[in-house]
Amino acid sequence: MNAVTRRAAESSGNLVNIRAAVEADLGSVATIDERVTGLGKLDYWRDVYERYSTRRTKQRFFLVAEPVGDASEKPLLGYIVGAVRAWEFGSEPCGWVFAFSVDPDTRLQGVGEHLFHAMSGKFKATGINTMRTMVARDNNLHMAFFRSEGMTAGPYIQLEKELD
Ligand SMILES: CC(C)(COP(=O)(O)OP(=O)(O)OC[C@H]1O[C@@H](n2cnc3c(N)ncnc32)[C@H](O)[C@@H]1OP(=O)(O)O)[C@@H](O)C(=O)NCCC(=O)NCCS
Repeated sequence: MNAVTRRAAESSGNLVNIRAAVEADLGSVATIDERVTGLGKLDYWRDVYERYSTRRTKQRFFLVAEPVGDASEKPLLGYIVGAVRAWEFGSEPCGWVFAFSVDPDTRLQGVGEHLFHAMSGKFKATGINTMRTMVARDNNLHMAFFRSEGMTAGPYIQLEKELD
């Protein structure tokens, strides 16, 4: 799909449908993850599903993007997972995004933005007004995407130490 088709599809609202993940999505989620990271981790995704889609679901969100109509032959185009976390590190409640990927064949067509906006809406509906994520310093793609969505450096820094 080229940029013109994409804009047309978006304006008519029929590019992707963002919905809550169901158990039957986990294979497709693991496949996208494997294409992006080289590791499929189906057990990990089962565990994420169990923790983020079946418990405390007013604060935990596992969303998937499915193509609408004949936009793609793939069952899913991407996913995003996040949760509202309260008072950790002295922080007021805020929304954390900790897993996010779009199928490499469907990049730069607005799917990531749809997922990000859907997650922002879920977080806002809980009453919070800040969302956070963490990116590797040298990951220019993540940085470009999140900057384009209005995210900037937050008030915390990450500290770590190698354990002997
Ligand atoms: C980051 C990611 C989710 C973006 O998804 P996407 O559907 O391609 O993004 P969109 O098409 O919605 O792009 C939105 C904006 O982000 C920015 N952007 C996205 N990809 C970009 C790229 N390759 N270079 C520069 N800017 C980029 C652009 O500003 C873009 O807006 P524009 O198209 O109007 O210029 C996707 O690239 C991805 O899944 N990356 C791998 C993630 C990963 O490593 N996950 C595993 C660990 S969490």
